[in-house]
Amino acid sequence: MAKSTEQAITEPTINNASHIQSPDPDYGYEVFQIGSYTFRRDEYFVRVTYPKGTYVVDAGNFLRAMMRDVAWGFFYGWVNFDDVFGTVNHYSSVDVFVGSYNAGYKSAGTDFVERFDANKLLACFKALLSDWTNAGFDPFAAPLETGTPYGSKNGNNDTAVNFQRELAERFVGLEGDTELRTDERGFAVNRHFSDVDQSEPEVHAAPGFEGQLSAFSLFRYLSRSPVTWNPSIVSLVGESAYCPTSEEHILPIQHGNDRVEWFLQLTDEITWQIADKNTAAPKAIVTMKAGDISSMPADIQHRGFSPKRSMLLVWENMTPGLELRYGSGELPPTAAEF
Ligand code: PHB
Ligand code: FE
Repeated sequence: MAKSTEQAITEPTINNASHIQSPDPDYGYEVFQIGSYTFRRDEYFVRVTYPKGTYVVDAGNFLRAMMRDVAWGFFYGWVNFDDVFGTVNHYSSVDVFVGSYNAGYKSAGTDFVERFDANKLLACFKALLSDWTNAGFDPFAAPLETGTPYGSKNGNNDTAVNFQRELAERFVGLEGDTELRTDERGFAVNRHFSDVDQSEPEVHAAPGFEGQLSAFSLFRYLSRSPVTWNPSIVSLVGESAYCPTSEEHILPIQHGNDRVEWFLQLTDEITWQIADKNTAAPKAIVTMKAGDISSMPADIQHRGFSPKRSMLLVWENMTPGLELRYGSGELPPTAAEF
């Protein structure tokens, strides 16, 4: 019997071209073209044309998802805007896909993927987000805390779209690291967290340890999150990052994990829709109440629904190359096997 030939792994080539933008006379928004994709928006919708068709999506949903993709530098693994369109982070290059992880698109042959230089794609997405976000709409804010995304081009909101999340290098409150959130720094207590105790712990360092210790109230910190579904980093120990966040309404992306991540529900509740990462087929609905902990496997995508602003701690393992070890099957997709 002939020895089976090893399948050559064909990685897509990286398109290094910059985007081109041109004015659209109808609604005032720029048209953005990068590689084989063209992005247009009108008063209500975004249309993405690609070699096999056109993908249409609500403009508000698109901008909320795009805001996360841009602000998180394409995040870990898959950022699905919905069941059809999204990006995959290869950590210097990025795939933009339509239907590549959707069983229906795959069987119809209307799926498409193109790989871009990460910096070139980010420049395109940033310019698009800035141009398509109108005055009064903050794509990072909960829908009840901002204006409408709809209508013809009406100014911009660059202060909102350039919002930088706070990423502690060691621990909040240590000298030179992320500061506590206060009124003076522009972090007001959110309307849903007016009952959260605002006192801070006292730190009494032993002689010789002055300036090396920090403690803070995480509840107070999160009660002052100005945006939703935007994990910040409050502690980094080795490659272990605590990324808490305050959540209201719907996570604007379906995150396809490239590693195991842990969720600790600190207050209130979030319902998670879990789906297969490759086909978008539903797998589970998980409702997490305050105190619940879950471990999200490396082979799923998830989207959260938080009816009231809630506090969530996302625990990430930032070990470089972990995505390759899960991707190759070297590591099992779950944290524990029974
Ligand atoms: C996640 O995909 O794991 C995620 C993203 C943003 C959040 C919470 C969870 O705010
Ligand atoms: Fe996730």
